Order: sequence, then structure tokens, then C-alpha cells
Amino acid sequence: SQRTLVLLKPDAVRRGLIGEIVGRIERKAEWTIQALELRTLSQDTLEQHYGEHQGKPFYEPLMEFMASGPVVALVVDGERVIEGVRALAGPTDPIAAAPGSIRGDFGTIVRENLIHASDSEESAARELKIFFPGLF
Ligand code: GTP
Ligand code: MG
Repeated sequence: SQRTLVLLKPDAVRRGLIGEIVGRIERKAEWTIQALELRTLSQDTLEQHYGEHQGKPFYEPLMEFMASGPVVALVVDGERVIEGVRALAGPTDPIAAAPGSIRGDFGTIVRENLIHASDSEESAARELKIFFPGLF
């Protein structure tokens, strides 16, 4: 089966949505939460994680936002979980995200879109090493 790296972003934590979002993931059949931790991300971790966006106009504000408070980092294992958490999250822009999705239900601002989830097996392997070195 697959593993993915999920981050509940600082807006989700500040707004008291940890339980709501973790609950949606936890209730999916055949998925298991293998790690879960509240932590404030260092500049170094964030550069490794979002390095692909360096130079884009939204990069600096994104980095500042992601460091603005603690996130919840999770490792989720299970059946098609990479595609599956992306589907639960909805598209990057919360206004374009359908009601019923996490971003569609709770978001309005592109930057403050509540959740990150790895977008491919390659990204998942790379991100799991950044956030949980030694675990996998
Ligand atoms: P992540 O799971 O956070 O990686 O989101 P994503 O895969 O849906 O989007 P992407 O990797 O393309 O962008 C990373 C993050 O940068 C997004 O989640 C947004 O928070 C932010 N972002 C992306 N595109 C834009 C944009 O056009 N404007 C702004 N303000 N933020 C953006
Ligand atoms: Mg992404």
C-alpha cells in the first residue's frame, strides 16, 4: 500500500480544525495514521519542503505563513492514500474546491488552504524523509 505526508497548516490549527480534518482522514476505510505530531516548522524544513516553488511570487508569503504557528504533521498509510487525501482536500484554490472537500468546506484564501498532502509517490518519499527522517 501507499504512504503519504499530510500537514494541517497553521490556519487549520489556529481555527480549531485539527479534530475535524483528522477525523475525515481517520474515518476512511483501509487507512491508518502511522505518525502524528504538532510542531513549528523551521526555515530549513520549509525550504526543503517547498523548494520547487522558490522564485514564484507566492513563495515568500507562503513560507512566512507556514512558519506562523504550529502545524500537525501526519503519516497516513493505506489504499490509494496519496490520491485519496488529495481528493479529500480538494483543489489548491478553496473557492474552486467543491463543498464536501476540506478546502471547499473551510477555506477561502489560496495561501491559507488548511492542508498539504503529497501529490505523487515520488513527492511522498521525498517529503516523508524531510518530516520523519529515520522513521521510513
Ligand atoms: P500543497 O499541498 O500545500 O503543496 O498545495 P498544492 O499541492 O495544492 O499546491 P502547490 O504545491 O501548487 O502550492 C503550494 C502552496 O502554495 C498552496 O497550497 C498554496 O498555499 C500556495 N499557492 C500555490 N499557488 C498559489 C498562488 O497562485 N497564489 C498564492 N497566494 N498561493 C499559492
Ligand atoms: Mg503541492
